[in-house]
Amino acid sequence: MAPCRAAAPLLLLLLVLRPASAGLSGYFGTKSRYEEVNPHLVRDPLSLGPGAIESPPVTCAPLQLRAVLRHGTRYPTAGQVRRLGELHARLLRRPAEPAACPAAAALAAWPMWYEESLDGRLAPQGRRDMEQLARRLAARFPALFAARRRLALASSSKHRCLQSGAAFRRGLGPDLSLGGDEVEVQVNDSLMRFFDHCAKFVALVEENDAAMCQVSAFKEGPEMKKVLEKVASALCLPVEELNADLVQVAFLTCSYELAIKNVTSPWCSLFTEEDAKVLEYLNDLKQYWKRGYGYDINSRSSCILFQDIFQHLDKAVEESKSSKPISSPLIVQVGHAETLQPLLALMGFFKDKEPLLANNFARQTHRKFRSGRIVPYAANLVFVLYHCDHMNASREEYQVQMLLNERPMSFQHSNETISTYADLKDYYRDILENCHFKEECELPKVNVTAVDEL
Ligand SMILES: *[C@@H]1O[C@H](CO)[C@@H](O)[C@H](O)[C@H]1NC(C)=O
Ligand SMILES: *[C@@H]1O[C@H](CO)[C@@H](O)[C@H](O)[C@H]1NC(C)=O
Ligand SMILES: *[C@@H]1O[C@H](CO)[C@@H](O)[C@H](O)[C@H]1NC(C)=O
Ligand SMILES: *[C@@H]1O[C@H](CO)[C@@H](O)[C@H](O)[C@H]1NC(C)=O
Ligand SMILES: *[C@@H]1O[C@H](CO)[C@@H](O)[C@H](O)[C@H]1NC(C)=O
Repeated sequence: MAPCRAAAPLLLLLLVLRPASAGLSGYFGTKSRYEEVNPHLVRDPLSLGPGAIESPPVTCAPLQLRAVLRHGTRYPTAGQVRRLGELHARLLRRPAEPAACPAAAALAAWPMWYEESLDGRLAPQGRRDMEQLARRLAARFPALFAARRRLALASSSKHRCLQSGAAFRRGLGPDLSLGGDEVEVQVNDSLMRFFDHCAKFVALVEENDAAMCQVSAFKEGPEMKKVLEKVASALCLPVEELNADLVQVAFLTCSYELAIKNVTSPWCSLFTEEDAKVLEYLNDLKQYWKRGYGYDINSRSSCILFQDIFQHLDKAVEESKSSKPISSPLIVQVGHAETLQPLLALMGFFKDKEPLLANNFARQTHRKFRSGRIVPYAANLVFVLYHCDHMNASREEYQVQMLLNERPMSFQHSNETISTYADLKDYYRDILENCHFKEECELPKVNVTAVDEL
């Protein structure tokens, strides 16, 4: 869809442009609405959708549910708000001729309402994301969410996660008695922000500019250059006044306005679907090198969380075997995209044959690693442990299902959506036994800052 080329009256222009964002919203990466991965929720936020058809085996009863969530829709961070303010101020400083530059005129008229104090906080839509997710999970697993079951709720210390946890709890409703000894949200950053506590990750990836060389190269590359030139021309700005970061902030604003306010902002009119694919790739490249397969330490640092998940599954199996009540039937933990992405990489999901590189944008068109499909706002990875009746004595009693964003996932070792607990543990034996957070995260003694040492 062609953006604002013709000189049109402002109102008409906005109407004409409205459908454009529908074409862009699939490329918002980590700023994607949850509805992008579950479009049926647009019509009915409580509908279980097509995934509901795939019910667990009838002879199986769920024993434990473990959910690792990303917080709901949030406001931009202070840094993003600052950069947006700069870009907006630039458009106000050189008032464009509305006829020659309708996009610049529309953006100059756009009210800049974001404040730095919003700094990544949970938006009202984010609370709804969580309340509705809680209600859908409860509807999907009524036996587990039934009255008097204990809910263990943990969270990252970030305000948006704590608020998300509280909203999730509220979503379960007042009629649901969850036991008297239930604690409020328990902060646990060693599990939910393991990346902050991993010295090797912090030094060699997070704080090492060289580690993001593919991202920097793509920002300077031919695909981004084309986007930059188009945006500069639409805004009637010299291209030297723009850079990849400013263009990215304009695109982010388009995504924030849709996620937070459910509106198509004039910022979206700067981009075509082709541009959006380039900017999505830029976002995915960063995720890949910082949180995904780019460096082993990205995913290895999550083994503390991975092992914690299996310790609780083990415990539930033990309790079940000795006919004891399950002490933790419901464990819900709220973290970040940065919590989920490494964990999924550790388990081998969404791995492409070739790495994501600055120079293989075209070859990666059909890549599996698309952050918007994996970790949109309110993304959730759910492990469900079942106890199954052994009508057939040689059949394993304990089975596991994994759901990502409420859709059953195929296991790496079988391509099936249900696995025996024994097979699953066997497949991940090496990580369970040989990945030790403390050792993995120790900084190497020698002075390495070169990327190839990672
Ligand atoms: C966080 O979780 C881990 C693993 O379950 C536990 O060992 C640790 O004590 C918890 N930390 C806090 C502060 O609750
Ligand atoms: C968002 O906007 C669309 C189209 O304008 C509308 O159909 C939908 O109901 C809105 N959603 C919410 C949650 O307000
Ligand atoms: C029991 O299950 C095993 C493995 O799934 C199968 O090989 C065997 O034929 C089954 N036996 C009966 C009596 O159904
Ligand atoms: C799962 O399916 C993929 C694609 O069809 C195939 O390449 C892979 O070998 C399969 N894995 C297993 C364990 O069957
Ligand atoms: C590591 O090497 C870099 C450059 O070679 C140097 O600037 C830095 O001070 C060294 N760090 C340590 C801890 O030796």
